[in-house]
Amino acid sequence: MKISIIGCGNMGQAYARSFRKYGLVKATDLLLVVRNEGRAQLLSTLGVVSNELGPAIGESDLVIIAVKPQDFGNVAPALAQIIKPEQVVLSIMAGITMERLQRSLGHVNVVRAMPNSPAQIGMGITAYATATELSMHQTLMVEQLLNSTGRALHLADETMLDAVTALSGSGPAYFFHIVDSMIDTGIKLGLEPHVASALVKQTMLGSYHLLDHSDRTPEELIKAVTSKGGTTEAAFAVLTKDDLSGLLDRAITAATQRAKELSGS
Ligand SMILES: NC(=O)c1ccc[n+]([C@@H]2O[C@H](COP(=O)([O-])OP(=O)(O)OC[C@H]3O[C@@H](n4cnc5c(N)ncnc54)[C@H](OP(=O)(O)O)[C@@H]3O)[C@@H](O)[C@H]2O)c1
Repeated sequence: MKISIIGCGNMGQAYARSFRKYGLVKATDLLLVVRNEGRAQLLSTLGVVSNELGPAIGESDLVIIAVKPQDFGNVAPALAQIIKPEQVVLSIMAGITMERLQRSLGHVNVVRAMPNSPAQIGMGITAYATATELSMHQTLMVEQLLNSTGRALHLADETMLDAVTALSGSGPAYFFHIVDSMIDTGIKLGLEPHVASALVKQTMLGSYHLLDHSDRTPEELIKAVTSKGGTTEAAFAVLTKDDLSGLLDRAITAATQRAKELSGS
């Protein structure tokens, strides 16, 4: 299999490293298109680096577009000249619809995916939608490649990617914010910063694994650590009164709305 990646920033590089790590593509069959000389040096061990949108891209089975959405307009006209009908184009650009990809590239075989930042360490989750023209073989190829960056979920309805963007695409930032706030409070309460940081990070890690290994729901796990008149109950009195659930709901709904505006859906 041959793959081209257009744009090798955080995500493009994460994809290149994961594909190489799992031996899904040979270095000589991985074309990395960059626009910055410094990056070319850095990536030369991963694949064949090029700084032009040239005809070699037309030799790939899969072309991944991993530039920022605002750069798509600059790369689309050149790609439209190069891409061949049998190739699959996978876009991870937020808010660029399959209809816009197909129209701008003059190409039907497109996949639109929404990964998240833990893909950089192989722990991401990506939801993706495929054009109806894609064959089963092509869909499986895409799913296998996406799985190398974490987990991949196929969506029958592309419009669900707006909710995915809000939930798992932006989700890591919500998590980091909560972690940051808890660490700040620990410091305010007198703990050394490194102690507060270790306590919060390990609590998050351990709680995730407890949830993952347990048959119990999050609600049941909360009940299991909440005793009458105890500390967790005191904390939840505040969280319930100030409606943390409602706040998260409003934040994620606002992100979904913004994703809809950006994608024009
Ligand atoms: N990061 C995330 O968590 C995340 C999650 C979901 C989706 N996404 C999507 O993934 C895409 C990439 O995000 P990112 O975080 O990886 O951004 P990034 O780090 O800024 O990477 C984009 C890369 O594209 C390069 N580029 C731009 N125009 C180019 C061109 N004409 N030819 C070759 N390379 C070009 C940029 O080069 P320079 O270095 O010269 O600027 C940059 O290295 C975005 O569309 C974003 O919506 C990201």
